[in-house]
This record gives sequence, structure tokens and C-alpha cells, in this order.
Amino acid sequence: MGLLYFLLLSLLAVMASGSHGNLPIFSFDEGYTQLFGDDNMVIFKDGKSVHLSLDERTGSGFVSNDLYFHGFFSASIKLPADYTAGVVVAFYMSNGDMFKRNHDEIDFEFLGNIRGRDWRIQTNVYGNGSTSIGREERYNLWFDPSDDFHQYSILWTDSQIIFYVDNVPIREVKRTESMGGDFPSKPMSLYATIWDGSDWATNGGKYRVNYKYAPYIAHFSDFILHGCAVDPIELSPSCDNTANLETEITTLQRNQMESFRRKHMTYSYCYDQIRYKIPPSECVVNPAEAKRLKVYDPVTFGGSRRHHGKHRRRHSRSAESEDESI
Ligand SMILES: *[C@@H]1O[C@H](CO)[C@@H](O)[C@H](O)[C@H]1NC(C)=O
Repeated sequence: MGLLYFLLLSLLAVMASGSHGNLPIFSFDEGYTQLFGDDNMVIFKDGKSVHLSLDERTGSGFVSNDLYFHGFFSASIKLPADYTAGVVVAFYMSNGDMFKRNHDEIDFEFLGNIRGRDWRIQTNVYGNGSTSIGREERYNLWFDPSDDFHQYSILWTDSQIIFYVDNVPIREVKRTESMGGDFPSKPMSLYATIWDGSDWATNGGKYRVNYKYAPYIAHFSDFILHGCAVDPIELSPSCDNTANLETEITTLQRNQMESFRRKHMTYSYCYDQIRYKIPPSECVVNPAEAKRLKVYDPVTFGGSRRHHGKHRRRHSRSAESEDESI
């Protein structure tokens, strides 16, 4: 019995470590360049990790040296601790600087909080300038992301986008025909930034950045940029090395994802009846999920407009619904 149990655990551990475990790690300079924030970005001596800080002068950020068409992209991130209300740390892909009106974007956004309350993560996807349809989801985590480094990853292929936290898939966006151009389909760069999101990040802007606690420092390391780099002028990909990436979610991972979403998802655009009277076409509405979110936030997810104040949800990226109990 004991041995079997041990074997089972070992097998689960191997399976859970996934197929992205052997990808090469880039040094900072191989993969990235500073984007803004002068001294607020610091490269560590090993060349493999950096920190980005936010103080009253500026935030900071970096951008990948290459544009990529599909691939697996990852960073280990440790977020600032204690009072972080209003602070936003983002790790994302975008081509907004090249395509002003029809850009694509795949986002991890970390939203700070007041002391004693944990960071929340938001994921989102835009395609071909679909900024009028936010596809946000938000979650809390099963650990404190300011305690230690954790790996946050984006897998992007022509048929799906998967967001992972420590190799656990937390969201899968499948390309559907009805999404049309809303699925990201042009080469993008990777970005990491820290900035002041006082106006929306914590309880819809109620709790702002307090620079008494600055600098806010986010650490980044273990950069994986396993994608097809494209020529920035021609934009035509000359390769597709996602061919040798494992892109199927295993049964174990699917179970982990479903369990994560049951326990930790606090917001999904698919169930937000205030923003979308009819959910966007790709949404597969799950009655159990609808019920769970409704208990959590009856106004947003219940479709009852009785208690709906005028000022709610004007901002598509507002992050207040899960904070109502503050
Ligand atoms: C992207 O948007 C432009 C208009 O901004 C439109 O002409 C084009 O057909 C769209 N592409 C796709 C793939 O939907």
C-alpha cells in the first residue's frame, strides 16, 4: 500500500511538471531590453534576473528583443509584499505599438491589495483591436505570490491560448469560428511592467497607491521565450517551433484546471450580465459555475439590476466586483 502510494505520487509529480520543463532559460539580455523607468529597473549580477520598481517618480518595464508568432512564454515572478493597493504588475504579449487600431494582446495582470489581502490575478485576451469586448477573468491563488517566485506562462498557438501558474493550466481560450478576428493572430512582443493603477486596480479605485510604502519591487527571473521570432518588417514567420511543443492538456491537468477554477475564479466575463446581456459567442455557460459566481456577487452575475448603482462597471477593466466585502 505504502509503496503503491509513493509510486502514484511520483507519477503525479512527473505528469504535473508538464512538458514545458526542459525549455531553455534566457538571460535577460538575450531576451529583453529595458522599456522605461531608468534606474527603477535593475539587472542582477547573474544576468538572469531583474527587478522592476514603482516609486513616486515612475514605474518601469522591459520588452522582448523579438516579435514572436506563437510559442510558450514564461517568467518566474515574485510580487511586492504588504500594502500594494493600486499597484499593477503585468506580464503580457502585445503588438499595440505596431498596430494602433487592430492590435492583439494576451495578458497576465496582477492587482495589488490592501495589507492582509492577497494579490489577485487577471487574465485577458484581445484580437484585432477588439477592445470593446473585454474577456477578463480574475482569480485568487492557492499561495501568497509575494512570498516566493512562481512561474506564470502563456502558451499561444493558432488554435488556443493557455495560461499556466506553476504548470497548472488555469484558463484555456479556444479559437472558435465565431470569435473571428478577436483571437490574437499577429506577431507580438513580450512585456513586463509595474505601474500605478490607482484608478481601477483595487476595489474600483477606492484604494490608491500609497507612496509611503514605496518603492514597490517586483522580481523576475527564469525567462523562457520559446517561440517563432519573426522579422519586424516583413512580419512573416519563418518557422513554427510550436510544432514540437506539447499543446494538449493532459487529463490530470484538465482536472487541476477545473479544480482551480472552481476554487479560485472570482470573476468571468462570460457570466457578467451587467456587461453582456448575451454572453460573447465563445462562452460555454456552465450552470454550476454561474450559480457559484452568483452567490459570490449576485449583482454582477445574477442579472438583477435592482441594486445596480449608476457608476458600476463603466470601466471595462474595473476590478471591483470581487472586492465588495472590503
Ligand atoms: C481586423 O480588423 C479590420 C478593421 O480594423 C478588418 O478590416 C479586418 O477584416 C479584421 N481582420 C479579421 C481577421 O477579422
